[in-house]
Amino acid sequence: METLITKKQGSSKNIQNLTYSVWVLGCQQNYSDAERFMSVLESLGFKKAPENEASLVLVMACSVRQHAIDRILGKARQWNKIKRDRPLQIALSGCVLPSDKPKLQNAVDFIFENNEIEKLQNYLSKEYALKPITEFFCNGTQDLFKIDPQYQSHFQASVPISQGCDNFCSYCAVPITRGREHSRPMAEIINEVKSLVSRGYKEITLIGQNVNSYGNDFSTRNKRPFDSAQDRQKTRNNFVHLLEALNKIPDNFWLRFISNHPKDFSKELIKALPTLKKVTPYIHLPVQSGSDRILKAMNRHYSVNQYLKLLFALRSQLPALTLTTDIIVGFPGETEKDFQNTIDLFKKATFDMAYIAKYSPRPGTAAARLADDVPPQEKERRFRELTKVLAKIALENNQKIVGTIRTVLIEKVTKNGQLFGRTRAYKNITLSGDASMVGQFVKVKVTDCYAWGLSGKIISKL
Ligand code: SAH
Ligand code: SF4
Ligand code: F3S
Repeated sequence: METLITKKQGSSKNIQNLTYSVWVLGCQQNYSDAERFMSVLESLGFKKAPENEASLVLVMACSVRQHAIDRILGKARQWNKIKRDRPLQIALSGCVLPSDKPKLQNAVDFIFENNEIEKLQNYLSKEYALKPITEFFCNGTQDLFKIDPQYQSHFQASVPISQGCDNFCSYCAVPITRGREHSRPMAEIINEVKSLVSRGYKEITLIGQNVNSYGNDFSTRNKRPFDSAQDRQKTRNNFVHLLEALNKIPDNFWLRFISNHPKDFSKELIKALPTLKKVTPYIHLPVQSGSDRILKAMNRHYSVNQYLKLLFALRSQLPALTLTTDIIVGFPGETEKDFQNTIDLFKKATFDMAYIAKYSPRPGTAAARLADDVPPQEKERRFRELTKVLAKIALENNQKIVGTIRTVLIEKVTKNGQLFGRTRAYKNITLSGDASMVGQFVKVKVTDCYAWGLSGKIISKL
């Protein structure tokens, strides 16, 4: 589609394609929001294109570490060069800290928050001289969750169950960039999942910064009432209630959820998990540190012992469980002893995988007021040492799976022509087979393993 545009930045061309490309940094929440923004763009007449052809690039920023923001600023310099040759608009959303906003505002054309859909529509219609647009939302609402997303896969989907976070872990930017926790009504989530599985989706991942506190805000929120009287009675077990409802959907699909917060992981949930047949035996349980002193400074509200108790309870309930975690090394004041405690925890917890981050101070957070006193080389050393410990444990865990039969969802064809998939328990696995199997469940015999995954042979289709 071609349309006239009025550019504010110097280009002689005033006709261009309405094409867009999206660059997402950060977590599933950003991917999911991007899928909803893409629907807005499509409704305005934009079509998806590779980045080097698109007239509009939408960037989803992540502020969890400085690195992602620096990457955006670096890329913005390249885009500004490209703008000398062809019309290009850069829009930015996602998670931005107030202290980074001026720099980013200078680097891109337009910044909008995820609840400012109207602003996005108005900006684009002005810049691209689009005819006055028909309201994207028939009911005029700006609620992001109400937008039907442009899912980027035909068999896997992330379904948001809440936005924001109330926890204020002392290192974390998320409560600042995304605001307070706001849970999505249960009926809306159930409808989205039902609609996905009726269209053949095989894997649904419920996403929220802390899924375990899902619905805790229902009882205090008066603008958006409870879905039903029944929900109201279950205020403390909203997440279990939600899983139970989704588990009843008859089709064959896997139900996963991220992220969990150990302080809110309820006994009811531990008890319910083995009975929920659609829910897969995979739990991501971020621990962040193996030192009680550091956990306290991080404002995490649990001790290492409490964490381990929870973890062992989960392992005893779900024998095939894959357990992963997030960890930060080099938090302010983390001594060698604290770090050794983290290593001890890793040995006891026998994680299958961990996302190890080197601490990065985020302006505006409580920890940013503390001296960032672990030198970069020391953070790097701790990162490497912990990775080594993890690799050994992960390999030992995987060795126990070799020889067994597993169900796998084939996700893609790799660069070297193999199939890549994940087992029900979220283990990476490579297989040989043809591309037509992508998006299908298969039965697999696990034949070999390495630290970060398995390999196997397909026995049959499911
Ligand atoms: N809500 C999720 C994840 C939030 S951010 C949760 O609580 O699990 C994802 C991960 O980034 C965190 O778990 C943490 O390990 C890491 N992270 C957050 N802030 C960080 C910082 N300032 N420096 C380094 N890593 C950080
Ligand atoms: Fe950040 Fe903590 Fe909230 Fe996770 S739970 S998003 S780490 S404040
Ligand atoms: Fe990053 Fe925002 Fe997610 S800061 S990790 S994109 S919630």
